[in-house]
Amino acid sequence: MTQLNRQWRLTSRPVGMVKKSDFEWRESPIPTPNQGEVLVKQIYLSLDPANRIWMNEQDSYMPAVVLGDVMRGIGLGIVSESKDSHFSQGDLVQCMVGWQDYAVLPAGALTLIPKGLPIPMTTYLGLLGHIGLTAYYGLLDITHPKEGETLVVSAAAGAVGSIVGQIGKIKGCYVVGIAGSDEKCKWLKEELGFDATINYKTEKVAERLKALCPKGIDIYFDNVGGEILDAVLGQINKKARISLCGLIAGYNVERPNPGPYYFPNVLVKSAKIEGFIVTDYLHRAEEAVKELGKWFIEGKLKFRVDVVDGLENAPLAINKLFDGSNQGKLIIKVFEETD
Ligand SMILES: NC(=O)c1ccc[n+]([C@@H]2O[C@H](COP(=O)([O-])OP(=O)(O)OC[C@H]3O[C@@H](n4cnc5c(N)ncnc54)[C@H](OP(=O)(O)O)[C@@H]3O)[C@@H](O)[C@H]2O)c1
Repeated sequence: MTQLNRQWRLTSRPVGMVKKSDFEWRESPIPTPNQGEVLVKQIYLSLDPANRIWMNEQDSYMPAVVLGDVMRGIGLGIVSESKDSHFSQGDLVQCMVGWQDYAVLPAGALTLIPKGLPIPMTTYLGLLGHIGLTAYYGLLDITHPKEGETLVVSAAAGAVGSIVGQIGKIKGCYVVGIAGSDEKCKWLKEELGFDATINYKTEKVAERLKALCPKGIDIYFDNVGGEILDAVLGQINKKARISLCGLIAGYNVERPNPGPYYFPNVLVKSAKIEGFIVTDYLHRAEEAVKELGKWFIEGKLKFRVDVVDGLENAPLAINKLFDGSNQGKLIIKVFEETD
């Protein structure tokens, strides 16, 4: 039987949570590469909060996905067929495969991943891929943490947040993580070595920050925005640094969250707030991957993944990022590693 390329195509702009009916499941022949192109078979598909932004009508740092197109997504895959001298069949690569089994891409759009290291394949898609890079440069390049400073991280038990907090510990900070369940808070303290945690769903964030950060907040790594950003802004120190990584509290809402009430503190405290996109740092990927890989192998950095089986589950699985049910980096297993 001829193998087909299974795809999810975006057919309508989601309102609120993503629905399966926002997509069309299509099966078509596997494409063949031309000169300078490579056919990639996807093993793991990364589901990211940014996917939800790309589904909207308006462009962001990337153009909106065109209705009818295959949904955009980052994947880790194996080269099935190469018409470019830089890649051979069997190479492990990271690239924008999209929500489908196979993609033909120009060779220049692929990153070759070294094989044979004592690192699980899923770690390449997260810790040593765009997630690790986001945490590494978003924290170190933007906030320059110093020993003894107080660092607060939101969505702390998620893919980016959990790495940020651990790097903060490596750099000698006092780290407070904000997350949405007692289980996540327990994991942050007991497994990752965070100093303190706040369950924002059951505790009053501003009150708890006051109790847990008696010296005020020097650094905030923001993955969330909204009310949590506001609670932190109310308690920042002079010369505080805020790395604006994500605003997930607003990705699914129909009207934007109101601006932070405590915004004037940025002025009064001579604070810095800086946004960034991980692609700003792609040219410096090597340094981050080397350092993160070293910390991971030395056991100083832990990374957990939440693997959902089957491409067919992508449209509903992505909502785990918004209801908080993902336990680590959310990934779809498209094919078995050994297939
Ligand atoms: N700037 C960049 O280049 C860049 C790159 C990658 C990611 N990001 C951003 O980084 C953030 C984290 O991404 P990730 O891939 O690591 O995802 P993740 O943290 O693994 O998953 C998202 C988490 O966000 C939390 N969350 C969802 N809705 C929330 C809300 N309304 N209020 C508070 N927390 C909420 C949930 O955890 P709880 O159970 O704790 O609620 C959920 O598990 C996102 O904002 C993303 O857009 C930015």
